[in-house]
Amino acid sequence: MKIEGKSYKTIWFENNLVKIIDQTKLPHKFVIKNLKNVKDAINAIKTMEVRGAPLIGATAAFGLVLSIIEKNDLSFLKKSSEELIVSRPTAINLKWAVDRMMKKLSGVNDKDILKIALDEAKAITEEDEKFCKNIGLNGLKIIEEISNKKKDTVNILTHCNAGWLATIDWGTATSPIYHAHQKGIKVHVWVDETRPRNQGANLTSYELNEEGISNTVITDNAGGILMQRGEVDMCIVGTDRTLSNGDVCNKIGTYLKALSAKDNNVPFYVALPSSTIDWSIKDHKQIPIEERDSEELSHVEGIDENNEIKKVRIYPQKSKSLNLAFDVTPAKLVTGLITEKGICEASEKGLKGLFK
Ligand code: MRU
Repeated sequence: MKIEGKSYKTIWFENNLVKIIDQTKLPHKFVIKNLKNVKDAINAIKTMEVRGAPLIGATAAFGLVLSIIEKNDLSFLKKSSEELIVSRPTAINLKWAVDRMMKKLSGVNDKDILKIALDEAKAITEEDEKFCKNIGLNGLKIIEEISNKKKDTVNILTHCNAGWLATIDWGTATSPIYHAHQKGIKVHVWVDETRPRNQGANLTSYELNEEGISNTVITDNAGGILMQRGEVDMCIVGTDRTLSNGDVCNKIGTYLKALSAKDNNVPFYVALPSSTIDWSIKDHKQIPIEERDSEELSHVEGIDENNEIKKVRIYPQKSKSLNLAFDVTPAKLVTGLITEKGICEASEKGLKGLFK
């Protein structure tokens, strides 16, 4: 998608370097950063210079390419893969991408390994882009249906950033919105600010603005009253890990939006590429929920009148904090899963029907 009219992807490989858009600087500064080695890739994932389930998977894949460039040695590659997998615990894409790369590289000789690794990392990004585009085309049908019935602007609520910045391009939750906008359907997006890191306010609103899509940032707690007032036609969110039973783990606060949507008969859709499906666990209690630094909660960051990025404390130093980064929305609250292969019920039957 575009930034200041120019098309970008979120990650690419150039001159033996991995290039990323540093998302910790957005929306105030647009900075392209070079990742030179696997340590840089791990650090970019941990500090959330790159974030969003599909993008951290792609970064891990390129991280392994950097590891081979640095030292073409099997034990170093293995150590890199282990460190990448644990760099963020919740999104399954990280493990999915590392496992896929390691499987491809198993038994490959030293001479060919770099080319094969690079081709596979590129294949992961190309596939994600294609899948996200298809998610958009599938989700577009739901928006079209609402628009035809309502004959007015379709109001869509989203949480966090499951936009193109969280993927390679298009996004998951935003892809149906971009496709609807490109088709001339009038859409307006309610953007949950998404405390504590404000991915909604900082990233979703920014990328929608850059594409000329009408949006309004709201506090995380405002979704309920907007739904009661009939001002939300549908919700679309992303997911970091989807269980085979249809439960979805996404940014903290997603569950409360789903509860509110259920109470107000607002359709609640989750958009995902198949790389976020975890077929291996049955119980959401087994999902490792990331607990992040309390400073994300105790401080807020913004830009002052001199264009300088500042961080300020907002509650007493003595107060205790708990910063859980994700929650689980049970399948019974999900209207449907929008995938690259079509839309299905949030259930084992639904998912297995699409992904044999
Ligand atoms: O902590 P983040 O910013 O990586 O969390 C991102 C989300 O929760 C997204 O909704 C999710 O990764 C889906 S991305 C298409």
